[in-house]
Amino acid sequence: MTIIHMDISIVIPTFNEKNNVRLITTRIMNILNREDCLYEIVFVDDSSDDTPIVLEQLCHEFSCVKYLHRKNERGLASAVVEGFCHSQGNQIIVMDADLQHPPELIPLILKRLFQADIVIPSRFVPGGSDGGLNLFRKLISGIARGIGRISIKRLRPISDSTSGYFALKRSVIHNAHLDPIGWKILIEILVKGKYRTVHEIPYSFVAREAGESKMSIKEQYNYLRHIARLVNNSPEDRKFYSFCVIGTLGVLINLFCLHIFLKLFDMGELSSSINSSCIAMIHNFLWNNYVTWREYKSQVLWRRIIQFPQFSLICGLGIAITTLFAQIFLFLGWNIYAGQLLGISVSTSWNFFANSRWTWPVAYNETNREDVKPVVTQELPSKMSWY
Ligand code: GDD
Ligand code: MN
Repeated sequence: MTIIHMDISIVIPTFNEKNNVRLITTRIMNILNREDCLYEIVFVDDSSDDTPIVLEQLCHEFSCVKYLHRKNERGLASAVVEGFCHSQGNQIIVMDADLQHPPELIPLILKRLFQADIVIPSRFVPGGSDGGLNLFRKLISGIARGIGRISIKRLRPISDSTSGYFALKRSVIHNAHLDPIGWKILIEILVKGKYRTVHEIPYSFVAREAGESKMSIKEQYNYLRHIARLVNNSPEDRKFYSFCVIGTLGVLINLFCLHIFLKLFDMGELSSSINSSCIAMIHNFLWNNYVTWREYKSQVLWRRIIQFPQFSLICGLGIAITTLFAQIFLFLGWNIYAGQLLGISVSTSWNFFANSRWTWPVAYNETNREDVKPVVTQELPSKMSWY
């Protein structure tokens, strides 16, 4: 008996795509039949229309087509995970059924998948375009990607982390516990997967011809829930997030105290500015020590003893920076609140970098050791003459 090793699995989630599934199947087959490889097309279907009937016919006609139908279940991302479990290829391509993701890109994707662990056709690298979305969707989609980038470190270098079109080596998700909410399976893989290299290829996201988009407000909300869950499970991202929240609270406290000292206590501008910064500093130390860097408590006693003085020293310099800005603004006859605010943002950045380096040095070392930064490369548009 010969064991056949499947090379490529194309996983396609479908929901009410009866007018698209045949078309995408033949277009993929036209392309892959020219390549010397063994492939399967795996549809994971949640439809309530006649799509399963068409898929059934396709399965009978073509041995490379498989499908599984989930009854009373919805969710693009979970459908893709299901597809991973029921497919066999060493290389996996995920794409939509509606032909907005051009199958003609597949040969290049596969070629690049030899070098990179994950390949992402991207709308946002030079040569790519997002023509298939209307202005409102573009805006929402941009905000969604921005939120992802701010919240999660691993999404930062990726230009199209919300893409529904991507490819990966199966080893990337080996042993990864994929548990996505909603639609964006790629962010789940980028956060939980094991990979070293990501390659992005520009492509044009074309407009849909048959059927309609299933994107909804509920899915946008699910995206936020998904991001929040990923952040919460990752100490590295939570640290950044918690530092931002504590910093913002510190800023509000700082400005509030400044106002109280100036207006209620009738204190001078210089001492009001210093005192409000001191209060904000104590507030920030306590929260950062017990929340932001809670995983990185030093076992060395003297380190713990000098932590607060050290923090105060670093923040003292921060206060000096803030006060300097406030004084400069006052000297120039500008608004003291604006000066204080600008000073606060400069000193906050100083505080974070200096404290993570010296006050909680374990945190600094550990992050560096754990964090093997994936290399992200981009396809040069000029090389894509075939397209
Ligand atoms: N199984 C299953 N279950 N499939 C679903 C479901 C579901 O609940 N919802 C949608 N799908 C399928 C659709 O049938 C289609 O094949 C694919 O998922 C994408 O759905 P669309 O409704 O066409 O989404 P879109 O065009 O607005 O957005 C897509 O493209 C963007 C750009 O790549 C999505 O893939 C987005 O995530 C992506 O950002
Ligand atoms: Mn679509």
